[in-house]
Amino acid sequence: MNVLTFDSQEKFNEAGANIITSLVQTNPHAVLGLATGGTPVGIYEQIVKDYKRGLVSFRGITSFNLDEYVGLPSNHSESYRTYMQEHLFDHVDLQPEQTHIPNGNAPDPEAECRSYDELIERVGPIDLQLLGIGHNGHIGFNEPAHALLRGTHIVELAEETRKANARFFDQPAQVPRQAITMGVGTILQAKMIVLAVRGADKAEIVHRALIGPITTECPASLLQTHPHLVVLLDEAAGKQVK
Ligand code: F6R
Repeated sequence: MNVLTFDSQEKFNEAGANIITSLVQTNPHAVLGLATGGTPVGIYEQIVKDYKRGLVSFRGITSFNLDEYVGLPSNHSESYRTYMQEHLFDHVDLQPEQTHIPNGNAPDPEAECRSYDELIERVGPIDLQLLGIGHNGHIGFNEPAHALLRGTHIVELAEETRKANARFFDQPAQVPRQAITMGVGTILQAKMIVLAVRGADKAEIVHRALIGPITTECPASLLQTHPHLVVLLDEAAGKQVK
């Protein structure tokens, strides 16, 4: 595990963007696993800048997002499809048909989960998976539990997660109760994982994830078993792992 701590937001974003753009430069047909949430916004902004400067092209890239809310129309302002369009896909030359996000409105959600896994199996493995972490240690929307699932599945969001994500909605009650998430088996099969975390409110969970026992009660702790894990932290998030 390589833990890198940055003393500015700018360096944190540049480091995240550089890892992704250099992979794409060296492997123009790479498969990227992408995350949403507050943390990667600045990383995507930097990637868009690199693209606009002509440093990188995403034309041959395939992407799979970690998760999507169940029940939000895909054009809803807070759907993860909308997020990805606004922060990355609309600004780079990724081919729309090569961007994949679980369909949270599929008529048969179980079938949607199976076909998402089949697609990843067919075009994967994922070369690089970008992750954030929830305050409870979730990765994707794999919430703490006695047992975790390997493949894509439907989850009940933890109340803590709904509360944290309420900041993006007009009313807390509008935060969906369920999501479709990639499972931890698929996440751990990625050839490289980049875990990006910012903020003092994440310092304790970063410590539990990186130094604490490996347990399904902190899904991010499973990342300790991954042979190619890079952790990007700002100083606040990293203050318990120095
Ligand atoms: C998002 C995702 C989540 C977030 C996590 C942290 O696709 O899968 O696991 O990465 O909830 O979110 P932020 O970055 O908003 O703190």
